[in-house]
Amino acid sequence: MCGIVGYIGHGNVYDILISGLKRLEYRGYDSAGVALVAESGQLNVFKTMGKVSNLEAYCAQKDTQAVLGIAHTRWATHGEPCDNNAHPHFSEDGKLAIVHNGTIENYQILKDALAEHGCNFYTETDTEVLVQLIEYIKVQNNCELIDAVREALKQVVGAYAIAVVERDNPDQIIAARKSSPLVIGIGDGETFLGSDGTPFVEYTKNVVYVKDEEIAIIRRGEPLKLVDFNNKESKVNVDQLQLSISQLEKGGYPHFMLKEIFEQPMTLTDCIRGRVVNGGEHVMLNGVFTNIDKFKNVNRIIIVACGTSWHASLLGKQLIQDMCQIAVEVEYASEFRYSNPVITDRDIVIAVSQSGETADTLAAIQIAKSKGAFVFGISNVVGSSIPRETDSGTYIHVGPEIGVASTKAFTGQVMVFTMLALSVAKLRGTLTEEQIKDFASYIVRVPELVEETLALDEKIRHLSLIYTYARNFMYLGRGYSYPVALEGALKLKEISYIHAEGYPAAEMKHGPIALIDSEMPTVIIAPKDHLYDKIVSNVQQIKSRGGSIIAIVTKGDTVIKELADHVLEVPEVPECLTPIITSVPLQLLSYYIAINKGKNVDMPRNLAKSVTVE
Ligand code: G6P
Repeated sequence: MCGIVGYIGHGNVYDILISGLKRLEYRGYDSAGVALVAESGQLNVFKTMGKVSNLEAYCAQKDTQAVLGIAHTRWATHGEPCDNNAHPHFSEDGKLAIVHNGTIENYQILKDALAEHGCNFYTETDTEVLVQLIEYIKVQNNCELIDAVREALKQVVGAYAIAVVERDNPDQIIAARKSSPLVIGIGDGETFLGSDGTPFVEYTKNVVYVKDEEIAIIRRGEPLKLVDFNNKESKVNVDQLQLSISQLEKGGYPHFMLKEIFEQPMTLTDCIRGRVVNGGEHVMLNGVFTNIDKFKNVNRIIIVACGTSWHASLLGKQLIQDMCQIAVEVEYASEFRYSNPVITDRDIVIAVSQSGETADTLAAIQIAKSKGAFVFGISNVVGSSIPRETDSGTYIHVGPEIGVASTKAFTGQVMVFTMLALSVAKLRGTLTEEQIKDFASYIVRVPELVEETLALDEKIRHLSLIYTYARNFMYLGRGYSYPVALEGALKLKEISYIHAEGYPAAEMKHGPIALIDSEMPTVIIAPKDHLYDKIVSNVQQIKSRGGSIIAIVTKGDTVIKELADHVLEVPEVPECLTPIITSVPLQLLSYYIAINKGKNVDMPRNLAKSVTVE
């Protein structure tokens, strides 16, 4: 979490930092700040609680002239969100300022040791400890900033992306990373820093992805230099940023979330482009075909993920089991990493992550690799850590997802799992060519069917008004619709703060049914599939207890239509493709309920898009 930005060059430093912070606000938004170094050797730090717009208002009357600067938007880990705990933090002598994304795990030990040497601390943060440590080393050793940063980082346990500036040096920024993302943009006579490439996409496409335990020395008028903790210089590899400015704008929609929901016909088209070819003749997921032996001989697949990606993984499990007859387990990455997992070299671990930066998922990958598994990544953000840490993988190609609540990434992940399962089924001969062709021909139609589903928008907007003030919601589904129920409930709680539970419909009678009354609406995902008759009984059980029901059904359904209070009809597709269709009305329902309640859907409280801490 947290977003960091830095800039050195001939442009307007303050403006570049502020617009960069706004692009990174999806990473955290409880406070924000800038540190500006002026030519005259002045270091000004301005920081405030709340969003970047608050910082802008606060700085309106300040002197923001600068020749370089660093900035931060925070998702609090150590210390409550307040002006004082906001970044940048500075050293006691006021000569150094730092921004940090990550957590310093041994900060208390370092803090106690520094306190014994007379250091005073003014915030509750782990980051202040780091900048004080750098200052202490610099003063004690009478050394350059770069040497002090290197020595300090050797003592740090934890995760970080940092940028440090010095009052007396208007020509240099030192940055470093370990387990938190850091990207450098190389412009013409100017250099940018960011937690990703979004802050500087309009200035340069030339980027350097800083590696773990690398320190970047960014000096005015000099080429970028990267060194490791032993001061050994490493090669600077310049990549091309695959991002355009229009992808980062709302494009006429009031919120990124709504834009991203409506983009799905296009993002799904992008996702399948080049992978389902000849109008559905072949399915070809490159990451599978470049690792034929691995997938052909696999013993078991373990999927690790967090949040919405975990829900997509549950669908991945169902798809792979159904189509490929491979045993699949799905684990929360955060549990997997500490579970002493039993893994063999014939297992494949699939790590799923929209951002490609989730700390728990990255840690799970390390464990799987250390136990000899082949690790395959499914990510959205090109160049992020997970694609670089995995043995092979694939991108979902749905473009930047800015709304904190994931929508288009979920449908993209499910689509990739569908294509992966079909590709592996082809290799293993578990589906006939005819069956594969049949599924593939449906896949190419999915974007237009999602478009058709989006026509429910107006109906859902009206429906949302009836349920805006419900205090609890239940979401039920079976088979392929069970993960959809989980995801629907997650969407609602993330952005409207209404308590919502997702449950397998048949499990309801073992507890949750006790909650059903006229004040607890249930959303039932009940497309025509092989469990349809079973879910009809579940609907009846709720109805007979006075519960109100919103049902997502297949067009032309007559049975549930009679029972439910409201039905949302979606186009018919083969069972394995229903989640991509049925999840769309649930996204819209949560969006409108949250809007009715006046919530900030793009930046819900306490959440962040990219969770780079444990
Ligand atoms: C955060 C986001 C979720 C996301 C989860 C996992 O909680 O708010 O939308 O599903 O992290 O993120 P990942 O990037 O690994 O998919």
